[in-house]
Amino acid sequence: MLSADRLRQKYLDFFVARGHKIIPSAPLVPENDPTTLFTSSGMQPMVPYLLGEPHPLGTRFVNSQKCFRSQDIEEVGDNRHDTFFEMLGNWSLGDYFKKEQLAWFHELMTKELGLPSEKLYVSVFAGDSQVSRDEETADIWKSLGIPKDHIFYYDETKNWWSRAGIKADMPVGEPGGPDSEVFYDFGTPHDPKYGPECHPNCDCGRFLEIGNSVFMTYKKTESGFVPLEKNNIDFGGGLERLTASVNNLSDIFKTDLYTRIIDVLGGNISPTTRIIADHLKASVFLISDGVTPSNKAQGYFLRRLLRRSMVKLQQLSSNIDYQVIVKAVFSTYSGTSYFDQANTDKIIEIIVNEHDKFRKTLKDSFKKIGKVSPFDLFQTYGLPPDVIEEFYQEKGLQFDRQEFNKQFQKHQELSRTASAGMFRGGLADKSEAVVKYHTATHLLHQALRDVLGNHVQQKGSNINSERLRFDFSHPAKLTPEQLQKVETVINDKITANLPVTRREMPKSQALAEGALAFFPEKYPRLTSVYRIGDYSKEVCVGPHVSSTGMIGRIKIVKEESAGSGIRRLYAQITD
Ligand code: SER
Repeated sequence: MLSADRLRQKYLDFFVARGHKIIPSAPLVPENDPTTLFTSSGMQPMVPYLLGEPHPLGTRFVNSQKCFRSQDIEEVGDNRHDTFFEMLGNWSLGDYFKKEQLAWFHELMTKELGLPSEKLYVSVFAGDSQVSRDEETADIWKSLGIPKDHIFYYDETKNWWSRAGIKADMPVGEPGGPDSEVFYDFGTPHDPKYGPECHPNCDCGRFLEIGNSVFMTYKKTESGFVPLEKNNIDFGGGLERLTASVNNLSDIFKTDLYTRIIDVLGGNISPTTRIIADHLKASVFLISDGVTPSNKAQGYFLRRLLRRSMVKLQQLSSNIDYQVIVKAVFSTYSGTSYFDQANTDKIIEIIVNEHDKFRKTLKDSFKKIGKVSPFDLFQTYGLPPDVIEEFYQEKGLQFDRQEFNKQFQKHQELSRTASAGMFRGGLADKSEAVVKYHTATHLLHQALRDVLGNHVQQKGSNINSERLRFDFSHPAKLTPEQLQKVETVINDKITANLPVTRREMPKSQALAEGALAFFPEKYPRLTSVYRIGDYSKEVCVGPHVSSTGMIGRIKIVKEESAGSGIRRLYAQITD
């Protein structure tokens, strides 16, 4: 049995030996990024560099990125879907391309990990009116020993990758490209329920997608697709799925990334235990990255995960011990630096509180059956669809599944949009403004400390393309003079056109050098530090403008209280 810890390390070592630098996993909730709720793929933190911004550390990178996909919540229950997963990733920023990438991944799978080559199937882009058929990739696979009948061509719904999905859904400015996926064949019999013929993208469970090489080479513009300045590689492979394949386990829940949690749940693998294991694991990761259950944004998805797993737990056994489950999640990842043991009690407390709240809601919602629509029971009370159906049956009421499904699908579409990056609101065409505001936030932070004193600490930040909002600790309302002074300091630094530079360093070094870092427990061991000239130094994931002159003039437009001892400022770029 190859453990997930060993596999992760083998993957990192393999690419380090080929000139790649390891980058840390970004948090599940991207900081200062209003365009997306969750980090849902390894490439997300790499977007500015894929679009052409030079990366200070070079052109080859490798990592294991924590990911959460809210759009998959209802998919969990089968042998291969999970909402939280680790994505092993490697990137070439205009460095190596298809030939090296496919040869390396093939070598990794067959030589390092021992997967039999005859069990591998691949897919390539079939081409359309905008982007041509990817025969080059098919030829490379053939030269590596993949037989013709293991190579399948699919359209953009399967073999085009962008954060928004197919080309038509991509906003202007967004990068994307054709991709090539690798599938592992478990050889299980085909289930004709899923179609007459089995093929790598069939849903019967015989094939498992274990890696995706994206040839990130296009950018969407107002007038169609244009090639990016450089040909990039964005590879992502699910650690859970790779671990399952390498150990010939046709179920990710049989891998050591789940067994401890499944054991706590009684040891049986079923749709119910898979849902509980996935949802509670994802919840622990989300809470650990600062999310708390609520009715909006990230908190809404956490609430849904917790409530669904609570119902399932109740169905499974009356003996619920969250403490044991949380500890099982922690021990699953004891070989990583994802968790801080000191947070265990806090995480358990948040889950138990939500459980108590939900118990009350459950009682109320039972009374509401027949009075509000089944969809309201799902959306407002957080009841899972299958539980609603059971309640209806129990009360002898008619459950209109068709109507429910219609509303549910609409809802799914919305969460997909939210999770993939709220793209319809327009990410890329406005991202320039967002990046400027982000750098302005660093200037504001330092200016506040200069004018008010070093007790000022960032308490929160939110940016959109229209303004920045910044919360910080300070005991009193700011006077007009103080506000004016802060504004003048920022604009002086903008006029000075200070360079903005980024360096990766161990967290301890960043803290020792005095970089501002107000959520240190949230940062990975290796952090990036942004400096603005000699004026500001802050731990941050970026992205930022390259010099302050690019920001334009800043005006503070509002000051208010944001709770006891916390002030809130709004600022806008005025030109
Ligand atoms: N971006 C691609 C994916 O998420 C490969 O990393 O599948």
